[in-house]
Amino acid sequence: MADFDLIVIGAGPGGYVCAIRAAQLGLKVACVEGRESLGGTCLNVGCIPSKALLHATHQLHEAEHNFEKMGLMGGKPKPDWKKMLAYKDDVIGQNTKGIEFLFKKNKIEWIKGWASIPEAGKVKVGDKTYGAKHIVVATGSQSASLKGVKVDEKTVVTSTGALELGKIPKKLVVIGAGVIGLEMGSVYARLGSEVTVVEYLDRIIPGNDGEVAKAFQKLLTKQGMKFILGAAVQGVEVLKTKAKVNYTLRKDDSEHTLEADTVLLATGRVPYTDGLGLEPLGVKLTKRGQIETDAHYATGVKGIYAIGDAIEGPMLAHKAMDEGHAVAEVIAGQAGHVNYGVIPGVIYTWPEVASVGETEETLKEAGRAYKVGKVSFMANGRAKANFAGDGFVKFLADKETDRILGAHIIGPYAGDLIHEICVAMEFGAAAEDIARTCHAHPTYSEAVREAALACGDGAIHA
Ligand code: NAI
Repeated sequence: MADFDLIVIGAGPGGYVCAIRAAQLGLKVACVEGRESLGGTCLNVGCIPSKALLHATHQLHEAEHNFEKMGLMGGKPKPDWKKMLAYKDDVIGQNTKGIEFLFKKNKIEWIKGWASIPEAGKVKVGDKTYGAKHIVVATGSQSASLKGVKVDEKTVVTSTGALELGKIPKKLVVIGAGVIGLEMGSVYARLGSEVTVVEYLDRIIPGNDGEVAKAFQKLLTKQGMKFILGAAVQGVEVLKTKAKVNYTLRKDDSEHTLEADTVLLATGRVPYTDGLGLEPLGVKLTKRGQIETDAHYATGVKGIYAIGDAIEGPMLAHKAMDEGHAVAEVIAGQAGHVNYGVIPGVIYTWPEVASVGETEETLKEAGRAYKVGKVSFMANGRAKANFAGDGFVKFLADKETDRILGAHIIGPYAGDLIHEICVAMEFGAAAEDIARTCHAHPTYSEAVREAALACGDGAIHA
């Protein structure tokens, strides 16, 4: 008899959600995790700690720029970096302990160590082998490497090292204008670092709506960040007290160098499946190293499933969580399902950037007729009162049917505002459905309603 109905490998957002859901559905579950604490990249060295630093430095920015305007006098606070890091570590501890509590509550056994799968139905951790009717691989991802760049997590860091630098750098060069580069770049720009972002493409945040990307770059530039676009990094030389970032401009192949105290490599992530022994088992990987699965997260080997960053799709904690939920239901004989058309993406800078569904670029490429409803936060009373008028809400709706196809928000709490649109999209709503829903005044969410109105006869405050 198998020791467990299910062994989940990896306790990140995908793995721990899968384990908890499966236990709730009556399965006997264990979860293997080799880190000292549960929660994976997200809770230990990703989403949660970066949000703590973004929160702290946003407060600093408010104090520096807006307090006096509201009659809050008394000088500007000075960052104490050690204390800020201690606050961040405390936040990590509270969250990871929370998962440990949930495991105990749901009677999930945490098998400590690094797992391999010697054969289908078996999981080996250290010198012990456990039998499992089902195995879910939820091993996540790691930072992608870049030719000519050697990470030491001190001078040249990934997102992990960027969360615990010895001191606030004077000059920070960020390689890659994606989510990690801009979130961590923002943290250090607010702390006074001179931040330069070097990006290979001619735009920032590829994949996001182009109009949002342009507006976002302008706002970040206003906040002091510098951008060098169309630049391919060739290598980083680490000298005694600083680093040199060598890049060529793609338009003319000219060679340039930037000096930095710290270099953040943020050029994407790759699936992490090392040491599992998948290939000898016959589990297929894509060219990019992702585990191949069918629509029910099953690999080609019976009883082995995979979810999260280790498989195809956007590398987002909430996508992994939804897949964890769904695969637990599939294993328990239910109909687990994820709607990949409605997965929001959020960048937690200030202002925040949030998006769901199609962009103008993807709609144009598909030749689909669409209309745009857009309003600025400048026309929102609450935003104006709170010095948060930068940005806009933009709806993309089908030209004929008014069905919402996508939405993009750059503005205050965009990451929260996006969700009423996600719910509407899940129900196949038209922009008019949101436009006709009463929204409390004065709230930021009125801007969402106004943009929906702008898809029809027009917004009131535009
Ligand atoms: P990313 O894929 O978002 O951005 C990487 C950027 O690096 C791209 O703009 C790319 O064009 C650029 N790049 C690639 N090679 C380059 C080179 N040689 N020179 C200059 N630029 C180069 O990757 P990122 O920011 O590292 O994030 C990794 C993953 O983690 C992403 O999937 C992201 O969605 C996820 N993540 C999500 C967060 C959120 O939801 N708020 C927060 C942090 C990470």
